[in-house]
Amino acid sequence: MKITVVGAGKYGSTTVQRIAQAGYADEVVMTDIVEGLPQGLALDMNQSRPLERYETKVTGSNDYEATAGSDVVVVTAGKPRTPGMSRMDLLVDNAKIVGGIATQIAQTSPGAVVIVVSNPLDEMTSLFAKASGFPKRRVMGQAGMLDTARFQDKVAEKLGTSPLSVDAITLGTHGDTMVPVPSMVSVDGKPLGELLSEDEIAELVQATRDGGAEVVALLKTGSAYYAPSSAAAKMVRAVAKDSGEVMPVCAWVDGEYGVSGTYLGVPAKLGRAGVLEVVELDLAAAELANLREAADAVRAKQADVDGLI
Ligand code: LAC
Repeated sequence: MKITVVGAGKYGSTTVQRIAQAGYADEVVMTDIVEGLPQGLALDMNQSRPLERYETKVTGSNDYEATAGSDVVVVTAGKPRTPGMSRMDLLVDNAKIVGGIATQIAQTSPGAVVIVVSNPLDEMTSLFAKASGFPKRRVMGQAGMLDTARFQDKVAEKLGTSPLSVDAITLGTHGDTMVPVPSMVSVDGKPLGELLSEDEIAELVQATRDGGAEVVALLKTGSAYYAPSSAAAKMVRAVAKDSGEVMPVCAWVDGEYGVSGTYLGVPAKLGRAGVLEVVELDLAAAELANLREAADAVRAKQADVDGLI
């Protein structure tokens, strides 16, 4: 099992570390355009192996040759947000970067399953699929796992309970039309609606949508990476191990939820072939309407993105 992570920034390198440390991969390759950066980080990570007790080796590289024949590729390259920016402000710059990577990966790892995390997430995932020519089931984006974890954590903080006792899911886009799904939230098995008022739930939903910006505003340079890399690494593991786990991911939808012809955050069953199946949940009417609105937003932006490659 060979896994490549493109981009050795904080998101990329933390993802590499989490994957390597999990120990199931034969090789993890980390690439970046900055000379010495992936090599130095790889050296440092490899030297933690005797301490952390795992064997997976990380290789740092500035070219795509080292990534050839990867089974799974995670694309983290691109600019992150700075305070006051929306993810959409990154569209033009990151489209060029992600489009270029797609062309390279299509040549060197033609059979890979690809997980895109570059922003704006939904548009970059779609762009990667188009620029690579890969079947859409082999190209997905990471957002829902992260947004769900943020939703769970915010619910737990509000109720003063363990984040591990909260079940939740977040669908839609990784942006303004994110759809946290309150009807599916439970805390120790109890529906959220029995524990908090409608206003309190609405506040948590909005705080979840603003979760990434909240971190950016505090950090001032760069965006979040601890929770994002955990989310990406979980998806990589599900694909690599052919686990069949259902996770909220940015996947191509073809009729599910009454939506067709766009990438969208939906629950999907993951395995070695990529997205094995989009899973349809029984959403409340308002949640379904929000999900369809999110689909329209991605589709509308997609026309702009297509013009950039
Ligand atoms: C976030 C970025 C990584 O949500 O999209 O933190």
